[in-house]
Amino acid sequence: MAEMTDVFFVDGMRTPFGRAGEKGMYWNTRADDLVVKAIIGLMERNGDVPKDRIDDVAIAATSQTGDQGLTLGRTAAILAGLPMTVPGLAIERMCAGAMTSVTTMGASIGVGMYDLALAGGVEHMGRHPIGGNVDPNPRFVAEKLVDPGALNMGVTAERIHDRFPHLTKERADRFGAASQHKVQAAYEAGKIQPDLVPIAVKDAAGAWGLATEDEGRRPETTVEGLATLKTPFRPHGRVTAGTSSPLTDGATISLLAGAGAVKEFGLAPKMRMVSFAFAGVEPEIMGIGPIPSTEKALKKAGLTIDDIGLFELNEAFAIQVISLLDHFGIADDDPRVNAWGGAIALGHPLAASGVRLMIQLAAQFAERPDVRYGLTAMCVGLGQGGSVIWENPFFDGKKKRK
Ligand SMILES: CC(C)(COP(=O)(O)OP(=O)(O)OC[C@H]1O[C@@H](n2cnc3c(N)ncnc32)[C@H](O)[C@@H]1OP(=O)(O)O)[C@@H](O)C(=O)NCCC(=O)NCCS
Repeated sequence: MAEMTDVFFVDGMRTPFGRAGEKGMYWNTRADDLVVKAIIGLMERNGDVPKDRIDDVAIAATSQTGDQGLTLGRTAAILAGLPMTVPGLAIERMCAGAMTSVTTMGASIGVGMYDLALAGGVEHMGRHPIGGNVDPNPRFVAEKLVDPGALNMGVTAERIHDRFPHLTKERADRFGAASQHKVQAAYEAGKIQPDLVPIAVKDAAGAWGLATEDEGRRPETTVEGLATLKTPFRPHGRVTAGTSSPLTDGATISLLAGAGAVKEFGLAPKMRMVSFAFAGVEPEIMGIGPIPSTEKALKKAGLTIDDIGLFELNEAFAIQVISLLDHFGIADDDPRVNAWGGAIALGHPLAASGVRLMIQLAAQFAERPDVRYGLTAMCVGLGQGGSVIWENPFFDGKKKRK
């Protein structure tokens, strides 16, 4: 009989993230190849895991056409050399795609139906521009179900500024610059690189190279410089390229296991899943979505925000992260929040990003036995939020850190 079990994040890896577009390092690389290489890298690092025991492979993409179509989980599994007996599926929840891959596979493990699963996501925003290939039902606008601006994520970010005037452009600029500086410091300390799978890339002239680092970083960013940038989403607006996640190509993958598989294969999990939740909000201000999803996830876990020692919040836009911090009474520069920087500097390949947050949280858990719980959370287009709370297996139980 299948039994309920704890769910563990055993390990996660990702490709370096590239700038989307013709000048980006992945312009000549297929989207599916990015996730295939991430899977190969993860399976190599976890060589004790028998490939034929993987019960399912869930891969998310927001655009599921072309090289992101054809049931990505199945095609990527075959291309990565997993046995034909391993099934796979595709997942779609816009920015929370990979997060939903993890929660869906995690739930299947939790009820005892699966022992091991792979969960991740990919988005090649260069080859699949945001909002391309979609045909929104005219009723959305005709029946005033949502405002047309709700489909432009930058406009929804401007609206958070409108709704909460005390969350100023200056605060967002400071947050954006800090993200760049934190990522640079993390790179210099070698924190990010161990979880990256190097990718062979071909440039416009046909010369091969190796992608080993996130391409979009701007360590030279200053708050003064950000104050001068254009506001592309609204004339005289407040959201700029310096306080937005850039358009990005990349893929992520994680290995999840139940308690039985951890024991059977002698695995050393990096995190235990405590709870997860998704929630809906008004699409016009989609960036506040992680507030109710976090409240739901905390309630399910029987925890409060004060129990969370580390936060990995996806920086779709600085202002939407600040809105969550403000809601929970956390300072914009609280050291528990995105300690190694976030998507403003690293990039946000939509359906891949959720597992990037988890990879980064897991790496911090290993260094922080004083922290018991961490949160990964993100906003989602058309007004949703997703949150997953994790427990640190390295928690030494002695120090309680708020
Ligand atoms: C904001 C956005 C429109 C900017 O796109 P872009 O104009 O192609 O971005 P660029 O990288 O060219 O930056 C624009 C300018 O700002 C400058 N800039 C960007 N970041 C900077 C920084 N940190 N410091 C200084 N200058 C910066 C660039 O150098 C560029 O200057 P230029 O016009 O003089 O060349 C785009 O990144 C975007 O749409 N982001 C949001 C994506 C999204 O919605 N994701 C889903 C979230 S839910």
